[in-house]
Amino acid sequence: MVKIKNLIIFGTRPEAIKMAPLVKEFQKNTDIFETRVCITAQHREMLDQVLSFFEIDPDYDLDLMKPNQNLHRLTSDIIMGLKPVLDDFCPDFVYVHGDTTTTMASSIAGFYANARICHIEAGLRTFNKRSPFPEEINRTVTGSISEYHFSPTKASKQNLLNENVKDENILVTGNTVIDALLFSVEKVNSMIFKDEEVESINRLIEPDKRIILVTGHRRENHGTGFINICKALKKIALENKNIQIFYPVHLNPNVKKPVYEYLSGIDNIKLISPLSYPSFVWLMEKSYLIITDSGGIQEEAPSLGKPVLVMRDTTERPEAVKTGTVTLVGTDTEKIIRETNKLLFNNDHYASMSMLHNPYGDGQASKKIIEFMKKVS
Ligand code: UD1
Ligand code: UDP
Repeated sequence: MVKIKNLIIFGTRPEAIKMAPLVKEFQKNTDIFETRVCITAQHREMLDQVLSFFEIDPDYDLDLMKPNQNLHRLTSDIIMGLKPVLDDFCPDFVYVHGDTTTTMASSIAGFYANARICHIEAGLRTFNKRSPFPEEINRTVTGSISEYHFSPTKASKQNLLNENVKDENILVTGNTVIDALLFSVEKVNSMIFKDEEVESINRLIEPDKRIILVTGHRRENHGTGFINICKALKKIALENKNIQIFYPVHLNPNVKKPVYEYLSGIDNIKLISPLSYPSFVWLMEKSYLIITDSGGIQEEAPSLGKPVLVMRDTTERPEAVKTGTVTLVGTDTEKIIRETNKLLFNNDHYASMSMLHNPYGDGQASKKIIEFMKKVS
């Protein structure tokens, strides 16, 4: 039997986390599919951390990351870098994820090579071209090129229907990040998980202090946004000596520079390197609340029952805002401080935001995608 040829392409940390369960699932179905993995390596160290945890050995590595890369160069490097890979493998289907530059450029490159594009995490929209920047346009472009759309929620499917995508080409699957999260929580909680990185973080934790976990990287927050965020974190730390802020700092120099300049040397702020996925999941579980501008963390936190303050003005993930686990605070210094204090000092408010729920899936998304692909291939 002639096998269906799949090429799965990703480049950044969150794409890798969210594509790993799909790669693993396709690897169980080698009788029907021949599946290869290509990484653009838009990220390097942060991507390699994920590949190593999920034991994924890519078939192609474009190794494209440059220090402080710009969007124009990155986009053209991805398209040109993929040409020989596509010529070599001639995939029937190219799978891309989400909204990064890798996603958008790979979908164009795959389309030019006559592959059909399958978009995982399809249909998220803020309807604001510049927020998140450039992700809203990246995912819209990919959506318009894609043949099949795997939407995490009914609301994201509805966005695609509103753009005249055919109903039969969309499947609501939940988000594959929950597949990855459940796998990792199990591994983290298992007896065999003894990790040096976790041990080293554990040594920094003072058990009588509540942990606030912080991450941030969005391009639209670079500059003034990050300075406002840092001012808020500094004030929160100085005024609340009974809390500890843990902040794994993204490697983007536009983030690292202001964060280390403003927040170094404060004893209850721990600036640390990006954590491997299982260590980060472990630290989320230990945290009292999370302050972030991340997309993926907005999806993971409700499953762990952790309140999230999102440092953005818009979100393409309205489900957790509606159910109350997520509050948008933008990059307004005073608002970040006010909402953090509410969670620290008002127990009823904390309880209302910390309920466990799974608006983004049940951990079966990759299985659903593969069953669908078996039918349409
Ligand atoms: C990218 C994505 C964003 C995604 C985010 C996840 C785009 C335009 N942006 O943003 O959608 O939410 O990843 O984190 O696709 N760097 C390293 N090592 C790494 C990773 C990054 O040194 O492992 C540094 C490099 O200097 C690199 C810079 O960070 O040039 C920026 O990386 P880039 O992928 O362009 O942007 P991100 O802000 O990471
Ligand atoms: N994450 C991680 N280590 C860290 C910080 C985050 O593994 O130090 C994980 C997190 O659990 C989530 C993903 O990285 O799954 C989010 O990545 P990021 O915030 O960089 O990108 P976004 O989701 O905003 O695109």
